[in-house]
Amino acid sequence: RAILHGELRGDDVIVVSNREPYIHARTGEHIEVQQPASGLVTALEPIMRACSGTWVAHGGGSADREVVDRKDRVAVPPDNPSYQIRRIWLTEEEENGYYYGFSNEGLWPLCHIAHVRPTFRSSDWACYVAVNQKFADAVIAEAKTSAPIVMVQDYHLALAPRMIREKLPDATVITFWHIPWPNPESFAICPWREEIITGLLGSSILGFHTQFHCNNFVDTVDQFMEARVDRETLTVTLGGKNTAVRRYPISIDWPPNPALMETPAEICQSELRKATGLPEDQLIGIGVDRLDYTKGIIERFNAIERLFGLKPEWIGRFTFIQIAAPTRSSIPEYHAHEELVRLTAARINQRFGRNDAPAIVLKVEHHGPRQVYEHYRGADLCFVSSLHDGMNLVAKEFVAARNDEQGVLVLSQFTGAARELPEALIVNPYNTDQCAAAMHVALTMPKTEQRDRMRLMRGLVSEFNVYRWAGRMLLDAATMRRRGRLLKNGS
Ligand code: G6P
Repeated sequence: RAILHGELRGDDVIVVSNREPYIHARTGEHIEVQQPASGLVTALEPIMRACSGTWVAHGGGSADREVVDRKDRVAVPPDNPSYQIRRIWLTEEEENGYYYGFSNEGLWPLCHIAHVRPTFRSSDWACYVAVNQKFADAVIAEAKTSAPIVMVQDYHLALAPRMIREKLPDATVITFWHIPWPNPESFAICPWREEIITGLLGSSILGFHTQFHCNNFVDTVDQFMEARVDRETLTVTLGGKNTAVRRYPISIDWPPNPALMETPAEICQSELRKATGLPEDQLIGIGVDRLDYTKGIIERFNAIERLFGLKPEWIGRFTFIQIAAPTRSSIPEYHAHEELVRLTAARINQRFGRNDAPAIVLKVEHHGPRQVYEHYRGADLCFVSSLHDGMNLVAKEFVAARNDEQGVLVLSQFTGAARELPEALIVNPYNTDQCAAAMHVALTMPKTEQRDRMRLMRGLVSEFNVYRWAGRMLLDAATMRRRGRLLKNGS
């Protein structure tokens, strides 16, 4: 945190992302403030609190317009305002084309290998271009100096870096791509691949979670662009401007907010069983995800079914609680996926559920951070089975929640997190037998081994926390700014 404060002192910092960190929603007479289920928001919120900057984001809440000032700004967090959100308004057509269409039916399946075909429409692309310009214009308007530090987030805003740089050539634009970057052959099917890459190369620094994704990006540039690629330093030069491509694995707040850890783990354990109507000694597994086809929820459920089939001693003794936050539901693929998740859970419960002990408890609703942490702290194992995931912060949150050093993490090898947490039980989510076996190992793991594994994982997450993630990016940006000033003064 100290580094962060030091690096940001006096600097003009603007974060720009599609999703806002606080949503104001109307429920009858009241305005409720909600925090969306997004790894990106989890990661950036502590940084914005530390640096009191401006966060430019789409205002999508039903009461968002009611709480802003004349410049579309609102101070947050509500209980202790320390920075401001500048809200962007989108028409229905813009939201459909830019967010649901190009971002989530095009780029999202393009970048995740989950075998869902991307859909690319020219009309969506036109909205994507227009909305990126809207965000870039807002950043330019919010800049207090001619050289702000702008942190652009994710695949919704690939064109914004160049648009910002055109108007603010001295800005330091740090872009972070929170999802995987595929190999050049896969990326090639995007009809606007050159435009996307040119947009991103407006950044001073372009970050990914893993070295693998950095390399994929550089390979893609090499294949499709007339740009100079320095493989030694992973720097790309286009039109005389350099972009440093760097690995910054994202993480979470550490230590976790004490309010999330208030209830002792044993109480969480008994409360969770009581609240779910389960016997006191029931073993519990937990899954926490947005209801997204990349998260491997069906594969997870199939593995639970296989576990009961292979090891019938767990029937009636083990229950898996799946928290599934509804997401992007107006996209047909998501709608169909939700149906399939519900049907699969029902089928497995029919087969292996017992009166007071269902095999799977499926909770398709939004849960706040406090409730989520109570689930983490009350469970015996957490299963993250993403088919492909940039990082996956659920894995790190589970580790952070377990200050009792108990609980086992079963983790997909296709997450960025698997590279940092080898003490988890690493599995291939497509391998149902292997996942079932890993759950059995988790449920029978001696407490001492749980502690040893958990300690190592907690050590890693505590050291490489979100402040490190941001701190390293900002340190690199600060070095770049100093060099730039030196060069300018020298010439
Ligand atoms: C992923 C993306 C984020 C996004 C989040 C939630 O983590 O990388 O950019 O905010 O999913 O998705 P949503 O569409 O609800 O913002």
